Amino acid sequence: MYLLYTILAALLCFLVLKWLKRRRYCMDVKRLDGKTVLITGGNAGIGKETAVALALRGARVIIACRDEEKAKKAVREIKARSHNMNVLYMEVDLANMKSIRDFGKTFLQREKRLDILINNAGMPSVLDWTDDNFSMCFGVNHLGHFLLTSLLLPRLKESSPSRVITLTCSSYKYQKLDFQDLNYNLFPFFTYCRSKLANIYFTQELARMMEGKGVTAYAVHPGYVQSNWTCHFSVLYRIVMQVVMFMFFVSCETGAQTVVYCAVSDEVVQHNGGYFSDCRPAPLRTFARDPGVAKKLWEASERLVKLA
Ligand SMILES: NC(=O)c1ccc[n+]([C@@H]2O[C@H](COP(=O)([O-])OP(=O)(O)OC[C@H]3O[C@@H](n4cnc5c(N)ncnc54)[C@H](OP(=O)(O)O)[C@@H]3O)[C@@H](O)[C@H]2O)c1
Repeated sequence: MYLLYTILAALLCFLVLKWLKRRRYCMDVKRLDGKTVLITGGNAGIGKETAVALALRGARVIIACRDEEKAKKAVREIKARSHNMNVLYMEVDLANMKSIRDFGKTFLQREKRLDILINNAGMPSVLDWTDDNFSMCFGVNHLGHFLLTSLLLPRLKESSPSRVITLTCSSYKYQKLDFQDLNYNLFPFFTYCRSKLANIYFTQELARMMEGKGVTAYAVHPGYVQSNWTCHFSVLYRIVMQVVMFMFFVSCETGAQTVVYCAVSDEVVQHNGGYFSDCRPAPLRTFARDPGVAKKLWEASERLVKLA
């Protein structure tokens, strides 16, 4: 009898886990033939799995990466796993405004379409500075993608209906933005949280500005994912986190699912500017839904990257 109960309990656990996993999967089978997708940081982690998933659906996939060797290796892997030869890389360092401007110019010259822009690249909680003296998290995660998206907006509008998907994190809720010190670089985790909150405001303001212009925007929390982000930390921290990640974090393939969902699903359009997690819209804290702050951040960002 005891054995029977154990087997039944194990079966129940298995079914619950399977259901939970399925709930996190994008079940939309839409293909993307003829569409062009650009993914920043597509050489590793969630970005690479997103690239494979969208290449499998027939899209032309361009990964925007800072390291040529890693990018070439990733392109070979994405092609091999998707059997799609329409995969390429272009170089950009999101910690360098000149590099982003050069990238924007080259992209607009070379590419006739941009249907889906995925602002995926990200720096975790590190205290460092970009080449333009912005704090690394704010500079790469928010300002780099802000400038990149702004430069590519003409192509997104021409390719409408098009989408901009920006990776954020549920840890946005632990901080608020300080407009007196947007370049805050004191406690590593807080710099990360602020940059991820900026990603949410950026998405809301972009959606508002593009209303009626055929470009929609979504912010995605991918879940807590076993990716390469620990490579920026000490060996001891990495060892501890490997154990934690193994026990509690999801795979990069699972982490990519909500991004894929926002890239392909027709349902998301009614939540333009929204925040998504586990392949569905998710609630935001009230302070993160303030259109006044979103607009203020947009204007401040324009000044910081010298677009205004
Ligand atoms: N992993 C999680 O648990 C988690 C949770 C919530 C949100 N997120 C978000 O999900 C996104 C993807 O994260 P991940 O976990 O896949 O991280 P990851 O494995 O560390 O990959 C990050 C990617 O960003 C690229 N990158 C970093 N700095 C760059 C720069 N200056 N210029 C160009 N590319 C740069 C990296 O390139 P290199 O390979 O050259 O370093 C890499 O391709 C991030 O925005 C992150 O904040 C992750």
